[in-house]
Amino acid sequence: MKLHTIAFTDFRNLCDGVHELCGGVNILYGDNAQGKTNFLEAAYVCATGRSQRGASDREMIRFDRKEAHVSVETNDRTRIDVHLCRDGKKRAAVNHTHVRRLGELFGNLLTVAFSPEDLKLIKSGPAERRRFMDIELCQLNRVYYYELQQYYRALRQRNNLLKDIRRYAAAADTLPVWDRQLVEYGTKISRRRSVFLEMLNPIASDIHARITSGRETLYVGYDPHTPADLLEERLAQNHKKDIAQGGTSAGVHRDDLIFSINGLDCRIYGSQGQQRTASLSAKLAEVRLIRRHKGHDPILLLDDVLSELDKNRQRFLLESMEHIQIIMTCTGAEDIFGKTPEGSKIMRVTDGRVE
Ligand SMILES: Nc1ncnc2c1ncn2[C@@H]1O[C@H](COP(=O)(O)OP(=O)(O)OP(=O)(O)O)[C@@H](O)[C@H]1O
Ligand SMILES: [Mg+2]
Repeated sequence: MKLHTIAFTDFRNLCDGVHELCGGVNILYGDNAQGKTNFLEAAYVCATGRSQRGASDREMIRFDRKEAHVSVETNDRTRIDVHLCRDGKKRAAVNHTHVRRLGELFGNLLTVAFSPEDLKLIKSGPAERRRFMDIELCQLNRVYYYELQQYYRALRQRNNLLKDIRRYAAAADTLPVWDRQLVEYGTKISRRRSVFLEMLNPIASDIHARITSGRETLYVGYDPHTPADLLEERLAQNHKKDIAQGGTSAGVHRDDLIFSINGLDCRIYGSQGQQRTASLSAKLAEVRLIRRHKGHDPILLLDDVLSELDKNRQRFLLESMEHIQIIMTCTGAEDIFGKTPEGSKIMRVTDGRVE
């Protein structure tokens, strides 16, 4: 699947308009703070209903406006519209049919977004690594998104209850109800995460071996906080502690990923370069995994990534993504010329104008 056009109205600082994209590499270049990342964000919003940099809907609407609208059309004539509202819920439509639940957006337009932050995946906290699995899992399987929603809803209720119990001890009677919900959804989430990583690991490992000319063996694995079959017991054991803390200490909201290179934990022993290469391999593996499971390539959104990589890795990235539609940003013309394939579309972004 490829994006044919993208259009925005009152989205961030971008001038209203429709832009055609090419099926290969699309480059947005310009000075800082001109609107390049905003352009990628608009595409990401159409794929997932949210911002890749975690911005709220309100932040994406032009400062003086009440609503923003972004839409895309793909080469197979799928059209996706997303309306963001300052005072109210966002609305979305696929092929002009309103979607009742935002989760229905997932899977219509597949994207993998990649920013310099992602190169720090291994150094950053577990929340970023969970996000790394969750976004791709949601795109691979919408049901996962609903399971996550249910899990986090139950978690919020349980945490509220834990605080209530400190005031009315009798409220503790309903704690097992929420424990059961966490176990029910947590078990499903845990199983899907585990399967996802089993599929991702050999691909990431292959990519990593190629980038390092076979010198390094990467392993990426699932590191559950509590094994699913022990979760029920653990939650019950932790009641006292959880009440004291006012929070839930066990569950999939605490899961993590493990990265190791040649058998050594990459977080502890990896050099900066190794950590970045491992992150790159894991991210590119997501692209291949989506292709394998969905039967077509996702769109790759690269925000300022090339300048963060050395020549060898830049070449690897562009060569291995040869048949994929890429929308990428960079600041200097020197980042582009002589590096990108022939037929790339180059757009200059100045103060929200894309030309
Ligand atoms: N809601 C909004 N309404 C209007 N303008 C906005 C809004 N949100 C952000 N902007 C403007 O968008 C600009 C930043 O855009 P963006 O993040 O796309 O920059 P960029 O071109 O990617 O820059 P860099 O190269 O530094 O990453 C800022 O000047 C900011 O003021
Ligand atoms: Mg930017």
